[in-house]
Amino acid sequence: MSGLTRFSISLEKALLEKFDLQLKQDGCPTRSKGVADLVRESLVKHEWKGGREVAGAVLMVYDHHKRDLSNKLTNVQHDFHHLIISSQHIHLDHDNCLEMVVVRGKPRDVEVFYGKMKGTKGVKYANLAIASTGKAL
Ligand code: NI
Repeated sequence: MSGLTRFSISLEKALLEKFDLQLKQDGCPTRSKGVADLVRESLVKHEWKGGREVAGAVLMVYDHHKRDLSNKLTNVQHDFHHLIISSQHIHLDHDNCLEMVVVRGKPRDVEVFYGKMKGTKGVKYANLAIASTGKAL
């Protein structure tokens, strides 16, 4: 961490009390850390609106018995191989699979990839966890 700067902000009392309670429940040690986390979260969201490289993960749950679904998802991943850092496939039970695909690339490309994976018929659940390469944080 580089040099710290102190600054003061004004908040409604009730809002600050809710924030403090949330920090306590989340196990966040200090208000400063809580605010810094919020600022970084905002910066990461902003990164995703730009054109610079970002990182993230696509999570999916699907039934591998669905006709040709595993093959279709693999084909999409081959089409976007340049974005994919790693993938992990977990057999949750007899029918259901959880797949996590870690990606790095331009936000728009990642969103197109995510849309194709999520839009594949038979996918029960999909989520894009946005993250950062960390370089701008
Ligand atoms: Ni499986």
